[in-house]
Amino acid sequence: MNAAITSIGIYAPEKRIDNSYFEKIIETNDEWIRQRTGIQNRYYARADEFTSDLCVKAIENLLESNHTDISDVDFIIVATSTPDHTMPSVASQVQARMNIKKAGCMDVSAACAGFVYGIILAKGLIASGANKKVLVIGAETLSKVMNFEDRTSCILFGDGAGAVIVEASETNYIFRSITETDGGLGQNLYLSNQPATINGEAIINDNKIHQNGRAVFKWAVSTLVEKIKNLVDLNQKTLKGIDWLIPHSANLRILEAVCEGLNFPKEQCLESVKLYGNTSAASIPIAWYNGLRSGKVRIDDTIILAGFGGGLTFSSICVQNRISLRG
Ligand code: UT7
Repeated sequence: MNAAITSIGIYAPEKRIDNSYFEKIIETNDEWIRQRTGIQNRYYARADEFTSDLCVKAIENLLESNHTDISDVDFIIVATSTPDHTMPSVASQVQARMNIKKAGCMDVSAACAGFVYGIILAKGLIASGANKKVLVIGAETLSKVMNFEDRTSCILFGDGAGAVIVEASETNYIFRSITETDGGLGQNLYLSNQPATINGEAIINDNKIHQNGRAVFKWAVSTLVEKIKNLVDLNQKTLKGIDWLIPHSANLRILEAVCEGLNFPKEQCLESVKLYGNTSAASIPIAWYNGLRSGKVRIDDTIILAGFGGGLTFSSICVQNRISLRG
């Protein structure tokens, strides 16, 4: 059975946080943040607003922005590192709130690579004949798990959500994927409340994000350059045949270094980090949606989606765009 991604919607909370916010609480400045990360703004959820709330808003936007119906969705996947609860899953909360009658539900824990993992799983469910219409959402409320005393990480992250529908289609528009993980590097990016170690290394179990930014940066650039080349080969394409690259928007400098390493035009790399910060599992659908809204991404464009993050894990897939947004 063939599959296509047919609709998309996004949401960011109302509270916009610009870089000057951090000048008041830590030793930093707007210039440093812009130069080292590209970030100008990010959005934070209210204290009473959780990841499932952002998912619902992204689905409402999907319904407004596309001619579609979700009552026949038969599986819901939410990729997140910041679920409302460990259980029930965010996906099952979404099922109830959107009144989707019959849907399998699960959350995916693959950090910033989670949205692409969700697409790969959805494609597999459809290809196997098990399901016909899968809602895949990447959503985060990272502002709830940030250490606002750590200037190397708190300036980076933001909250947001992006939802897509993956459904059975006559022609195939979702092509081959590559997923890989360097679990031995897991201690470089974590969020834990357990008095345990990762790979034998002591961790801080304060339920906040901790990362070795330099180590993740280096790993991300080399991994993305190598694996995207492999993905292009696997799909029997060349980089010249790729219209858009949408990597996880962690840091603009990572994206620029990847484009340089691939000799791929920066103008064809879509990002969401400047105006939303690093929204982890939500960053790729937000960049895609805004690429569609601005008229850059067109029907039948070939796109590479590439996620990377905590794990350390990597996921990538080549797709053909079948989404055209309404008005
Ligand atoms: O989505 C999950 C995956 N995560 C990532 O991909 C994150 C990857 N890493 C990064 O984005 C970058 O490593 C950071 C943005 C986290 C840091 O940028 P960097 O260019 O790697 O900076 P650095 O850690 O090498 O630090 C350079 C300097 C240091 O000062 P010294 O030691 O040179 O005096 C830091 O203390 O910048 C200092 N610094 C800051 N200064 C002002 C670190 N954070 C800040 C800050 N404001 N917020």
